[in-house]
Amino acid sequence: MGVDVLLGLQWGDEGKGKVVDVLAPKYDVVARFQGGPNAGHSLVFDGKKFVLHLIPSGIFQPNTINIIGNGVVIDPIILLEEIKGLEEAGIEVRKNLYIAHKAHLILPTHRCIDQASERSKGKDKIGSTLKGIGPTYMDKIGRNNLRVGDILLSDFEDRYKKLKAKHLKLMQLYGSNGQCEFLDNETAWFDAVDQLAKMQIVNGEYFINTLLDEGKSVLAEGAQGTLLDIDFGTYPFVTSSNTTTAGACVGLGIAPSKINKVIGIFKAYITRVGSGPFPTELFDETGKKMQDIGHEFGATTGRPRRCGWLDLVALRYAVMLNGVTELAMMKSDVLDSFETIKVATAYRTKDGKLSNEFLFSLNEINEIEYDEITGWQEPLPDYRKYADMPKTFKDYVAYIENAVGVPVKLVSIGPDRDETIMR
Ligand code: GDP
Ligand code: IMO
Ligand code: MG
Repeated sequence: MGVDVLLGLQWGDEGKGKVVDVLAPKYDVVARFQGGPNAGHSLVFDGKKFVLHLIPSGIFQPNTINIIGNGVVIDPIILLEEIKGLEEAGIEVRKNLYIAHKAHLILPTHRCIDQASERSKGKDKIGSTLKGIGPTYMDKIGRNNLRVGDILLSDFEDRYKKLKAKHLKLMQLYGSNGQCEFLDNETAWFDAVDQLAKMQIVNGEYFINTLLDEGKSVLAEGAQGTLLDIDFGTYPFVTSSNTTTAGACVGLGIAPSKINKVIGIFKAYITRVGSGPFPTELFDETGKKMQDIGHEFGATTGRPRRCGWLDLVALRYAVMLNGVTELAMMKSDVLDSFETIKVATAYRTKDGKLSNEFLFSLNEINEIEYDEITGWQEPLPDYRKYADMPKTFKDYVAYIENAVGVPVKLVSIGPDRDETIMR
């Protein structure tokens, strides 16, 4: 039993939602441990597509307990919209959804500060999703913020007003004239807070540990990806939470000793949405081809995702940080028509040294060493068993396993639940 952790090893959008949905029937509980509605987790089944921002991807299983952990930051408006959308599609959400009372709230003014901060940065902007993530985590760490449990207390509105007043001053510091479209959301926000108060708010850490004591199995669902981790990602072009395995412990209140498997998800290539360094980025037709075939547009913002070759330096780094025990390779089918596939094996820095380490500053990279691998040039979605798959494809998988030292236990060959091959 215990906890298995599933997380992204790149810059997000690896396909976490799809794999959680596929694996969910094996678990009693699915729990989101960090991030907020900056996440967009897509899953496809029975010809329907859903995109989840805050709700764990186990919600489509009739008997799975879904927990939004204390490490998550919640915008009540977005949560309510998401619940309504799922309910309209006939999914029963509220019965199986539990929200930790220590999860933090995103206020409308957090979104205003996010916007003002990004504007003030000009061309150096992070490329934030403008969901208020950075400012909310700032208030969490700064010991100022409101949490889900506060909704039930009598001084909630007073504390909201004080925090809002502070935010308005902060906006001025960022050069904002106080105009912000998200301020118009205040009534809707309070309405959504009222709805949230009626949901199943729990003492998250006791709730999940009791389930574990009862012998229940938990799948912890990460958001974003390792290269966006606040400590280990490409700072400052990162998100504001720990997206790595350690984040699952603090984001749910579980001890490290409870963790069994760590399932690391990566694309057969790599993408990034938003600003920041990206060593293997392709600016040519090949990158455009990946973007077109992979439909690489953000699930939350619709922005085009930058595309590039798989970066083994980054992948090994992510495997090390997370203690990955098994890998899932996603979007393999996107490379079906590629004659040759390149894989970055090392960076050469400006002083001529070869580095196998993910550098403090990726701007120090002068050149990238690549291996070239022959493509399989057949449609992978035609296959249902790993043993039957083209040898050239299996060689690509074996090459990665060798380079990283962890087995690939799942390959994904299309967005649908059924387009998944387990080994
Ligand atoms: P997440 O944020 O990690 O859950 O990933 P996203 O949902 O943001 O992005 C992954 C996108 O790729 C979604 O549109 C998925 O439907 C799609 N997808 C997932 N797996 C595959 C796959 O194996 N092949 C293809 N072609 N698309 C996939
Ligand atoms: P999922 O869970 C991809 C990126 C943003 C920006 C940076 C900071 O779907 O993989 P933020 O809004 O957190 O302040 O933005 O992080 N980003 C993501 N990129 N997938 C995500 O989530 C992301 N969440 C944030 O584009 O570069
Ligand atoms: Mg996504």
